[in-house]
Amino acid sequence: MKHTFERPPGFVYRSPKKRVPRHSGSTEETTARGQLNCEQVPLKELAERFGTPVYVYSATSIRRRVRAFARAFGGVSHICYSVKANSNLSILRLLTKIGCGFDVVSGGELERVLRADRRAAKRVVFSGVGKTAKEIEVALRAGILLFNLESPAEMEVVAACATKLKRKARIAWRVNPDVPAETHPYISTGLRKHKFGVPIGEARELYAFAAKSKYLQVAGVSVHIGSQITQFAPFRAAMERVAELVRQLQSDGHRIQYVDAGGGLGISYDGPQDFSAVVAEYADAVTRPLRNLKVKVLLEPGRSIIGPAGALLTTVLYRKTNGGKKFVVVDGAMNDLIRPALYQAEHQIVPAEDRSAAPEIVDIVGPVCESGDFFAHDRTLPTVCAEDVLAILDAGAYGMALASNYNTRSRPVEVLVAGRSAKLIRRRETVLDQIQPEIFRKA
Ligand code: LLP
Repeated sequence: MKHTFERPPGFVYRSPKKRVPRHSGSTEETTARGQLNCEQVPLKELAERFGTPVYVYSATSIRRRVRAFARAFGGVSHICYSVKANSNLSILRLLTKIGCGFDVVSGGELERVLRADRRAAKRVVFSGVGKTAKEIEVALRAGILLFNLESPAEMEVVAACATKLKRKARIAWRVNPDVPAETHPYISTGLRKHKFGVPIGEARELYAFAAKSKYLQVAGVSVHIGSQITQFAPFRAAMERVAELVRQLQSDGHRIQYVDAGGGLGISYDGPQDFSAVVAEYADAVTRPLRNLKVKVLLEPGRSIIGPAGALLTTVLYRKTNGGKKFVVVDGAMNDLIRPALYQAEHQIVPAEDRSAAPEIVDIVGPVCESGDFFAHDRTLPTVCAEDVLAILDAGAYGMALASNYNTRSRPVEVLVAGRSAKLIRRRETVLDQIQPEIFRKA
């Protein structure tokens, strides 16, 4: 593990080691401490102040990532941040302040957005294969921008709700382009065998069908092929198919104002990345096929906005050795961050304080009673001891959002850092918070 890597502007080691002479004729690196910071606050300090496990997010990093998207796509796009990646209210509020819209997939996510800023409703797109009539009505009343329809049966329900409320629903069909995305099978969505969208070959008929309904207004075409996609070709291929469809729909007389390109841009879990360059190439893949179509591009990024802007801090509880295998037992667990267990994800894990300790190979595991409760297997880590704080990097997306109370563990605290300031944005749950909804009854 190199000690000098930088993850600008979020997570950076400060006060790098000085080279000082140890004895004449040679130089050796001293043990001067390098501290990993989130912006200007040492992670060690955050762990002491707020306790662990704690998710820490860099506000500057979030803002810069949104700006990088805006620069790469220019005026032709609008970012609808995918709330499922991280739905903390303070993060949503930060995003409303810089003009983001939102992609929601439930009434609960819509409620969060409305609480963050009621005026953001007009920048909301509603996706998902199982929207209920109740959720659709709330969204219609709020005046959202677009419903991404996923089946003819769902279209009937949207039309019925819109008719009942006498409000027009702007709709896009989420088309399934049958494009393979090289990613984990659980998060690939753009193939015919997946539950998502409608086959692109049937779309023209479905648009004609929707256009007949008085309270449905055809407004766009939507597509999302999966998540953590690190190649650009699948995006380009999907958009080429969508562009072809838009041309046909326009010649059929539909007014297609929006192409919702979904989310899915992957991040690097191995180390820092030139995000501006990545997003520029992604923008080219998405927009080139659409040129001359006079459509506004909607984007639904989640991970690429918030993933690298967050880390999970956890404290070492114990070290143990079983049959020669070394374990570092930490106070965080699979209930706090399930990505390694669920998707075989490999997040970088680094000590909050770099003491230039000798590296060793360890498993980093949590207290939950499952062998699936691990953050890393056979990982090279500088030797750590009890009370040391570790940072699990790139955990801002689908970290807290997927956290659970398994083993009646309270979910982590969340902290938002901006410059020197660190603010609690979610307090630690208590066991009482967890058991309150339960009803104590005799059988
Ligand atoms: N739009 C739609 C319709 C989606 O289904 C998703 C993600 C997104 C946008 C945002 O995709 P992103 O830009 O974040 O890749 N829990 C998994 C990821 C699940 C993604 C689900 N859909 C993980 O931790 O890798």
